[in-house]
Amino acid sequence: MQVDYLDHLPDEFKTSAVRLLLYALKDKLIPILGNDGRAQDVLEESLKPTHCIAAICDHKLVGILAIENSKGSFLNPTLKILIKVYGILGGVYRMCGLTLLHHSTAPDEFYVDGVAVVDEMRGKGIGSQLFGKLERMALKNRIQTISLAVIDTNPKAEALYERLGFIRIKRTMLRPFNWIFRFPFESETLMVKKMD
Ligand SMILES: CC(C)(COP(=O)(O)OP(=O)(O)OC[C@H]1O[C@@H](n2cnc3c(N)ncnc32)[C@H](O)[C@@H]1OP(=O)(O)O)[C@@H](O)C(=O)NCCC(=O)NCCS
Repeated sequence: MQVDYLDHLPDEFKTSAVRLLLYALKDKLIPILGNDGRAQDVLEESLKPTHCIAAICDHKLVGILAIENSKGSFLNPTLKILIKVYGILGGVYRMCGLTLLHHSTAPDEFYVDGVAVVDEMRGKGIGSQLFGKLERMALKNRIQTISLAVIDTNPKAEALYERLGFIRIKRTMLRPFNWIFRFPFESETLMVKKMD
């Protein structure tokens, strides 16, 4: 099985990348953006193809790792796009939700916005390889820190990150916002890996 790891997303995989990330990040994104197809449109319209690592096998996208740096993020809906799709009130409400989960990224930091591998290819090392490629990119770009946030309902992913060398830094409780947005989790943990 030959898997290629690209440092950008070719145009033809935009739809499948957003679909895969929406599925992987459903607990965070569906409560904010909804489940009616508009989330797919909003994210496709706003994505930055240079801010990811894409795993391609047999002309199919099998994995994606979304990156945020100080210059922007792979998933980057602006208020303008949100208002266009959800109206003024709906757009502002959704922007508040996204801001709540937003991480302010330092100039020497990569923040992993999300990572996902298609169901049938999980457990074959693709997720770990995506992180390996990210680390090589970090070293090349003199990035000091890779960080990510994992929600309390995803212990398997948390264990994987720990195995890859990430250390838990702090846990943030989302109360009362988890009630307002109906997030099916209560907290997220910031994990960090230093690139020494
Ligand atoms: C997390 C994920 C990207 C890992 O990709 P992967 O290619 O399966 O990872 P690897 O093969 O390198 O490593 C497998 C490890 O991932 C862990 N893992 C985490 N979530 C998993 C899941 N939903 N299914 C299978 N394995 C998962 C397994 O425990 C496994 O550890 P093990 O080898 O000790 O059993 C992938 O499982 C996935 O897409 N999960 C759903 C989305 C998600 O939870 N993303 C993280 C939050 S954004």
